[in-house]
Amino acid sequence: MSVSETRRSMLEKVMKEHNFQESALLEILHRAQEIYGYLSKELLMDISQSLDLPPSHVFGVATFYSLFKLTEPGEHIVTGCLGTACYVKGVEDIMQAVEKEFRVKRGETTRDRKLSLFVTRCIGACAMAPNMVVDDEVIGKATKEVAIEKIKLALKGGPRRETR
Ligand code: FES
Repeated sequence: MSVSETRRSMLEKVMKEHNFQESALLEILHRAQEIYGYLSKELLMDISQSLDLPPSHVFGVATFYSLFKLTEPGEHIVTGCLGTACYVKGVEDIMQAVEKEFRVKRGETTRDRKLSLFVTRCIGACAMAPNMVVDDEVIGKATKEVAIEKIKLALKGGPRRETR
């Protein structure tokens, strides 16, 4: 599955959970940002079509709240699942190890703009907890060592992240 397919299927799941309801727009935007790292124009258009809402409304909400990021993150995106199952299985330790190793805090991008680190809530793979997502790959039953190794490999491979 490509980067865009993996993240798009996560978003689809979120929208389904909310029955594609307009009333859940804020929550959906919030989760979309967790999944993609930021809200691109294409992503906002996608959400507006999926929820059958005018683009002006979706763009209006996204630009109104300062918590939404409309600019692009680093070349690679690493996301830790901080849902309950993953938390219980120790994802916080992995996140801290990643922050230390790559000198980046969650929610931020490294100075060279190579790596952004984000957190999300349950990605629906609790049986494989703790889960980390490195670009297009969900790393189930992750350990600090494996997560760091996968991130190093991604960084060595050059820019791979698709924005959509
Ligand atoms: S809590 Fe992480 S996949 Fe469900």
